[in-house]
Amino acid sequence: MKLSVIGCGYLGAVHAAAMASIGHSVVGIDVDADKIALLNSGRAPFFEPGLSDLLEAAIASGNLTFSTDFADAAGAEAHFIAVGTPQSKDGLSADLRYVHSAVDALLPYVAPGDVVVGKSTVPVGTAEVLAERINPAGAFLAWNPEFLREGFAVEDTLRPDRLVYGVGEGAERAESVLDAVYHVALDAQTPKIIAGYATSELVKVSANAFLATKISFINAMAEIAEVTGADVVKLADAIGMDARIGRRFLNAGVGFGGGCLPKDIRAFRARAEELGVGHSVRFLEEIDAINLRRRDRVVDLTTTLLDGDVTGRKVAVLGLAFKPNSDDVRDSPAVDIASRLAALGADVVATDPEAIGNARRREPDLVFGTLEEALTDADIVLLLTEWKDFTGIDPAWAASLVKTPIIIDGRNALPHTEWIDALWEYHGLGRR
Ligand code: UGA
Repeated sequence: MKLSVIGCGYLGAVHAAAMASIGHSVVGIDVDADKIALLNSGRAPFFEPGLSDLLEAAIASGNLTFSTDFADAAGAEAHFIAVGTPQSKDGLSADLRYVHSAVDALLPYVAPGDVVVGKSTVPVGTAEVLAERINPAGAFLAWNPEFLREGFAVEDTLRPDRLVYGVGEGAERAESVLDAVYHVALDAQTPKIIAGYATSELVKVSANAFLATKISFINAMAEIAEVTGADVVKLADAIGMDARIGRRFLNAGVGFGGGCLPKDIRAFRARAEELGVGHSVRFLEEIDAINLRRRDRVVDLTTTLLDGDVTGRKVAVLGLAFKPNSDDVRDSPAVDIASRLAALGADVVATDPEAIGNARRREPDLVFGTLEEALTDADIVLLLTEWKDFTGIDPAWAASLVKTPIIIDGRNALPHTEWIDALWEYHGLGRR
């Protein structure tokens, strides 16, 4: 099948490459000429394990091209909208300008019978409005949310847990086109749920709201553990053994960040308010607040451990990405904590295997260095992103570099007994 993918960021670039790898003929379109040039040379514009190999192979096979010209979408049977929906500058709601401009630019090249497939995360009600613009061209709209995780994006795209098709006018045509697109996953018995637009839009935002709630729940327990002497990691292990609860997404620490969970729960609140049911998801305000309090906790604990004043004290920050195996620093707890300590006068040196470039663009005044540069003569070390490069550090080697062996494990990810045995003063979040 010929497919077009509009928007070549974390979502679209992976979708385009993955669909080309299973034999479709795909054109990826983006307004950013630099990004398109990079992609056409087989290089990913961001760090995502496995993506460069997939891009190179798909481009070499002739199945994948990238372009800045929307006219190249003509002739495709399915057009995927994969542009970003960031938080608005002046509020909590999602900024839909890229979705609308993508549809504006695409519409002249959409033929009768084509299916436009929304993948971006949008407030419920958006698809209905878009369908009213697409249907007069004789084309149909499907809403097909994406559940990929950064760091596992290729795997999640090729082998999703489930497929959700939100359909309206032209439902049969939309379903048959999507079945042909996803024939490999469907042959592998991937469950498929067919619903209306509102349900499929809500599946995505409610899934992210649930995940955010799970993380903030365990971080709230970490707050309780901190004042009672309980151990939140053992608590998570114990409650997680109940299959109804499950251990995944119960890792307490500095909380969630990234381009999805934080802005999605805020946009959900804003949309619910517009719909007159703000009370239904008002708890998400608390979920957000618990999450942000974890960052305060690390700043406060660092200050306390440095005898109440961070001025001129060297703080080694290990990790800048919002999670390991990603170079994404959007709403990253690590970048936030590092900048706040620097603003308080600490001599922060931050390091990350992949995210220094993006962090520097966001926080140009922060000082970055190698792991060794960060550790050398540090008064305190903060582990804020659990990259293997950091969780595997030899504590004796690290102790030989720092001035004072004090570490805050912001992800409860270190083998703490080894660190304690190597004479570190170890502080996990939510544990003694
Ligand atoms: C999230 C969802 O997991 C995906 O299913 C969804 O498709 C995606 O958003 C999206 O909307 O596009 P992602 O943002 O890549 O994926 O990252 P997650 O793996 O969900 O992690 C989010 C944040 O939560 C990270 O900062 C991570 O460190 C933190 N986290 C995760 C915890 O603090 N504790 C945990 O137990 C798990």
